[in-house]
Amino acid sequence: MAFKALLAAKTDEKISTSVVEMNEQDLMPGDVTVAVDYSTVNYKDAIAISGRGEIIRQFPLIPGIDLAGTIEASSYPGIAVGDRVVANGWALSQTHHGGYAQRARLKGEWLVKIPAPFSTKDAMAIGTAGYTAMLSVLALEHGGLTPQRGDVLVTGANGGVGSIAVAILSDLGYRVVASTGRLEEAAYLRDLGAAEIIDRRTLSEPGAPISRERWAGAVDSVGSHTLVNVLAQTQYRGVVTACGLAQGVDLPGTVLPFILRNVTLAGIDSVNAPQEVRIEAWSRLARDLDLGKLARTTQVVGLTEVPDVVRRMFAGKVQGRTVVDVNA
Ligand SMILES: NC(=O)c1ccc[n+]([C@@H]2O[C@H](COP(=O)([O-])OP(=O)(O)OC[C@H]3O[C@@H](n4cnc5c(N)ncnc54)[C@H](OP(=O)(O)O)[C@@H]3O)[C@@H](O)[C@H]2O)c1
Repeated sequence: MAFKALLAAKTDEKISTSVVEMNEQDLMPGDVTVAVDYSTVNYKDAIAISGRGEIIRQFPLIPGIDLAGTIEASSYPGIAVGDRVVANGWALSQTHHGGYAQRARLKGEWLVKIPAPFSTKDAMAIGTAGYTAMLSVLALEHGGLTPQRGDVLVTGANGGVGSIAVAILSDLGYRVVASTGRLEEAAYLRDLGAAEIIDRRTLSEPGAPISRERWAGAVDSVGSHTLVNVLAQTQYRGVVTACGLAQGVDLPGTVLPFILRNVTLAGIDSVNAPQEVRIEAWSRLARDLDLGKLARTTQVVGLTEVPDVVRRMFAGKVQGRTVVDVNA
């Protein structure tokens, strides 16, 4: 059966994308076939499609690091026709066709069943960014953080990971401080639950190796000087999670926050997270994420609009989450 897909090709080191018609036999091997409803545009998708990083390892390939839809065929134990499923990461958009298509064939072991309160659209409004935000919250809890310990900082707060982290943490009772380069979006961040908004420039330049204790915990998706300054300002026995590189991949700091303040820096990887961790994250999202707030973070586009979203993302103009309706 024919289906529509956004396909990435590479000519003379330049990546281009176009919406094409493909057939089931064009799909890669796998033990499940999914009728895809939605995918999303994450920062990693932007890096992949723009070629700023080598995410896509073989061409032509359907990009899209995540997808949600309904099982059409399955020989994988525990996954049946009609199940609503979500896939985040693994080889999608790297060596395996990803979510920007009406059909996907993949490994059943990559799938998580979508928890009851969520539609397939909700699952992609959350997407990899929201699931990563929950992995970060779980890591804070694992490190012993509770709302009584003090303020929690979220960097990159207007982004996908940041927006969902603000929403979840505030509903869990934390006093959330949101760091952003878009102070004009303060109303959006307060609506998600931020108690205080700070200018990201206060964190983005080289700073002292250790400074006044401000944060009981932090969710960082920015890296570089921002993460180093956050660590330097974290309270005794505080916990900081690192999932992103929006400012840079470098970490130009010292060990002082670790050896003087017993600060924990917890790494977050969503791509190869074990299945039991994914199931825990998705079930906690079902419990702790307010669907009204989720809807306020989300806009929906079609496949043809993805390259424009990528351009706007690098220009710092995309807020929250962008869902891709592959059937639009
Ligand atoms: N480890 C993992 O498995 C994993 C999973 C998901 C995402 N990530 C990473 O997490 C990061 C966020 O992903 P996302 O999908 O949420 O992206 P996004 O929606 O584009 O959000 C990134 C946010 O970072 C802030 N930012 C951008 N450039 C910056 C700069 N130069 N300095 C400081 N802040 C800057 C902006 O927030 P403001 O406008 O509010 O300043 C922007 O909205 C990315 O680096 C992504 O690769 C990693």
